[in-house]
Amino acid sequence: MRALRTTTGTPSAWTVTEIAPPAVAGDQVLVEVADAGLNRADLLMREGAYVPSSADWNVAPDRVGFEMAGRVRAVGDRVTGIAPGQYVMAQTGGACAELVAVDHRLLLPVPDSLDLVAAAGLPSALLTEYGALTEAARLRPDDRVLITGGAGGVGHIGVQLARALGVHTVIATTRSRDKAGLLRELGATRVVDTDPENPEDPENPENAENPEDIATVLGPDAFDVCLDHLGGPVLADLLAAAAPRARIVQIGRLAGTHAHLDLETLAARRIQLIGTTFRGRDAGELRALTARLREALPGLLRTHDVRPVIDSVLDLSEAERAGQLLDRPGLIGKVILRIT
Ligand SMILES: NC(=O)c1ccc[n+]([C@@H]2O[C@H](COP(=O)([O-])OP(=O)(O)OC[C@H]3O[C@@H](n4cnc5c(N)ncnc54)[C@H](OP(=O)(O)O)[C@@H]3O)[C@@H](O)[C@H]2O)c1
Repeated sequence: MRALRTTTGTPSAWTVTEIAPPAVAGDQVLVEVADAGLNRADLLMREGAYVPSSADWNVAPDRVGFEMAGRVRAVGDRVTGIAPGQYVMAQTGGACAELVAVDHRLLLPVPDSLDLVAAAGLPSALLTEYGALTEAARLRPDDRVLITGGAGGVGHIGVQLARALGVHTVIATTRSRDKAGLLRELGATRVVDTDPENPEDPENPENAENPEDIATVLGPDAFDVCLDHLGGPVLADLLAAAAPRARIVQIGRLAGTHAHLDLETLAARRIQLIGTTFRGRDAGELRALTARLREALPGLLRTHDVRPVIDSVLDLSEAERAGQLLDRPGLIGKVILRIT
């Protein structure tokens, strides 16, 4: 079968190679991958800056791809409730390949409302943001939610999920005025422009607010839950806008891996700072999160129409270009590779 792999060198490359199809264990399902979603972690892995270690990565580390959607070809002898022909999606290692073998407890059904391109871009963001909101932050519907990097591949699902879970106030940040409208369409009730270089927009003052920093524009007591995809100075700034007993879930560190935090504010407001990652999660933890998400899925996807924004769809043979698109500043939503 064809599979995408990272070949080392200067620079490294993504190369389509022929490899043996995976063996299927008793509790696994063999999936014919239609489409795979690319993620920032794919770029980090390629640079050697990310080593996956969770139980949903069961292939060699040079394989590419964390999520896919496709059709069940065969099921192991210990699998019940899933049959060949069904459409499924999952976060699973080496997803950019014609076939993947996935633990059946890590699969999610693809509803009729979603095509396979959209489904391929959903599992990682959905698991990340659903886990962050419900498990890490223990979200309540009356919470006000702040999402940093809200237009990103992960954050724009967080915006939709928060609304789907009943939240009335969802504040999203972006450095790009152009993305403010989309964020509002996705459900953000307020958009904060965090780029101090951006000029005010007198013709469209509602488009995005342009602060010196997040706390200056939001003021104190502005959010109860934050999904922070940026870290660094953004995380440091937002503490001053947190409500007493706010929960900040630290998900990504695109703005920096170190932050200079005002611990007086952290302590005085009894703020909880909670880190999360899939790395190191064992099979039981992943299965439990997937099972809870699977149960909530009809409400989230069918009733509330949570879906990824698709930035671009490219053929597997164009993986190199897809990687460049994933890394460009104007990216909105997901880059998808067509596999079969
Ligand atoms: N913990 C977990 O389990 C988990 C799971 C999945 C992903 N992640 C991580 O979460 C983060 C977000 O992933 P993603 O796929 O959404 O990434 P993404 O699409 O590449 O970027 C998210 C957004 O962040 C903003 N941004 C990027 N660099 C920035 C900077 N230096 N300063 C301020 N804003 C910046 C950009 O928005 P604007 O251009 O609109 O400002 C970008 O669209 C990544 O670090 C990823 O590795 C973590």
